[in-house]
This record gives sequence, structure tokens and C-alpha cells, in this order.
Amino acid sequence: MALYSEKVMDHFLNPRNVGTMEEANGVGEVGNAKCGDIMKIYLDIDENQIIRDVKFETFGCGSAIASSSMATELIKGQPVSEALALTNKAVTEALGGLPAHKIHCSVLAEEAIKAAVKDYYDREGIEYDPADFPDESACAHCH
Ligand code: FES
Repeated sequence: MALYSEKVMDHFLNPRNVGTMEEANGVGEVGNAKCGDIMKIYLDIDENQIIRDVKFETFGCGSAIASSSMATELIKGQPVSEALALTNKAVTEALGGLPAHKIHCSVLAEEAIKAAVKDYYDREGIEYDPADFPDESACAHCH
């Protein structure tokens, strides 16, 4: 069996929603201290809390790029609450799986989206439950 699914290869080679965004009202950046990879997510959220557009920049491995690409596709057009509920497991499943030692790369995507939503809440003065944003870095998931 191939190490990477066709979907992973597709999203790695043709990543969706790559880039930056001037009009973003929520930006999140997380890093993985172990591998040094960094992921940044930009959200453009409308007045009904729907994610109008999303972009990402990832300085990281192929799995991190594929995970960010898939994650942005999964939350585009969705309410912020859906983005907040997105787990790295859902991203991994949508990709058709990742090798066990690459699961932490998908965690980076989940955390970057959460960080961007938190930034949006902070900017807009929207109250939130701090428990939704545990203060843990992706490296906690690495071994
Ligand atoms: Fe660092 Fe994949 S090895 S995010």
C-alpha cells in the first residue's frame, strides 16, 4: 500500500486556497517546535459568522500542506462554529488517512484554524469559552 493516499498527494501537489488575505478578520499562526514547521490561516468572516473565504500559508512538510489544503476546503462557506469544531481526525479522514508519524501535521491545521477563530473573536469583541482554546502547542502531540 502506498504511504500516502491519492487525496493526500492531490492536495499536496495542488493545494487549494494557498496565499494571504488583506481583508482577513481572523488570522492564526501556529508552529511545531519539533519539526520547525509553521502554518498560518487567514479567515474572512461575514456579519453572520459565515466563513466567506479562507487562505493558508504553510512552511512545512507535504502532510502539513495537504492537511491545510483539506482543512480550508472543509471550513469554506461554513459557520465559524463548524470551523471551531473541526478536528484533526476529520481532516485526516477526509484525506483518506495519514501515516501515524504524520498525524501531528494535521493537528497543526486544527490548531491554526482555532487560533484564527480566536483572533476573530478577540477583534470583534465576541465572548467565547476559553476552554475551546486550550493553550497547547502542536508539539505536545509529537511523541
Ligand atoms: Fe512538521 Fe509535518 S513534519 S508539520
